[in-house]
This record gives sequence, C-alpha cells and structure tokens, in this order.
Amino acid sequence: MAETDGPVNPPPAGTPPAKPKPKPAAAAPAPNPALAGRTTSAAARSTPRKAAAAPDDSSPLMGRRGWMGLAWGAFTASFVGCMVGGTARFMFPNVLNEPPQQFTIGFPTDYGDGVDERWKNAYGVWVVRTPFDDYHEAPGFYALLVTCTHLGCTPNWLSAESKFKCPCHGSGFRPTGINFEGPAPRPLERARIVLAEDGQIMVDKSRKFQEELGQWTDPEAFLQV
Ligand code: FES
Repeated sequence: MAETDGPVNPPPAGTPPAKPKPKPAAAAPAPNPALAGRTTSAAARSTPRKAAAAPDDSSPLMGRRGWMGLAWGAFTASFVGCMVGGTARFMFPNVLNEPPQQFTIGFPTDYGDGVDERWKNAYGVWVVRTPFDDYHEAPGFYALLVTCTHLGCTPNWLSAESKFKCPCHGSGFRPTGINFEGPAPRPLERARIVLAEDGQIMVDKSRKFQEELGQWTDPEAFLQV
C-alpha cells in the first residue's frame, strides 16, 4: 500500500522501534587550484618544526655542549694566564741584591786594635787590627770571613772570651781565625785587603786565603800599616 501524508498508524504492540536513517556525509570542499602543491593545513602552518635534540642536550641544567664549552673556556683562561705570568716574570726577573765583593771601609786611622764588627752584617767580614801578625811579623790589618768552616753558620764574636764562637755546633776560633775547639776542621778564611788609591782600606772577597794551604803569608792577605 502506498504511503500517505495522513496520520500514521502506531505500530502494533511488540514491534521494535525503527532505527533512524543515517544522514548523508557532507561533501568535502573542492580543492582550490590556485593553492595546488602547497600545504594548506592550518596545523601545518602554525606548528614550528622542532630541532632534532641531541640525547644529552635534554638535561634541564646543562647539556654536553655546555660542559664542553665550560671546559674549553677554563683551559683557554689558564693558558692565557700562564702566558701573561711568564711574560711578566721575563720582564721583571728576580734580582738578588747580594753585597758587593769589593768595598772600601774607611781609613786606617778610623780603627783601633782588635776585632771590628761594623761590616759583619753589611759585607760579611770582620776587620781585625793587630799590633803584631805572626805570618808577616808586622802590625796591620786582616779581614776574616764570617763563615764557619764546619757547615757555614755565622759565628759570634765574644770579646770577653776573646774568641769567635759558632752557635750551631760550638766551634771556636781565635782572633787570628785559627780554629781550636768544636768540629770546625780548619781556620776561618781571610779576604784580600789592600789600600785603595784614596788611602782607604779596600777589602776584596773575590780573593780568599786559607791558612792550611799556606796562603796567609800572601802580601795581599795582610795590610801592613
Ligand atoms: S757550622 Fe759552625 S760549628 Fe757547625
């Protein structure tokens, strides 16, 4: 029987309700020929490409490249520091201010007999004036080096005992420089002593005289006055 626009008769009892008919799918928009070959997706346009990250660069604190840069920077800084330090050291070398080997110490009339300690600290010598020297059989001057012949300490002049006494191991020396007690194996050394052109006494430590070698009889080991 043909369908009519009139009232629809209800289905008989026990008949299952009819399923709604699916709506037809909307037709896809036709492609724009002007955009052929281009990506027109909004998502594709707005989403930036992510750079391929190295596995170690994913650290939230510092990646491998960061550590490499830090190490390289530290190495460069230390290298530059060494170069600058070396240059400065070259331009400003250490200078040892050693006392001169030759020096004048005044006129003979400036001295009385005995041991004079004025030049011990400045030049490392005692100047001794004696009324009679056994090696030259005359009055005059000699200069004793202040270096103990045991291990190189500096003895002290003990005027009350008329001797030089080494504080290190107890060696003792006569005013002449001859050793007489303690471990020192030989006398103190004497330095060259002469009169300078201006009449002052000049001491020259670059030339030394040793008693055990018979050198104290040398004319320049004693200044006759
Ligand atoms: S250094 Fe002078 S006694 Fe040893």
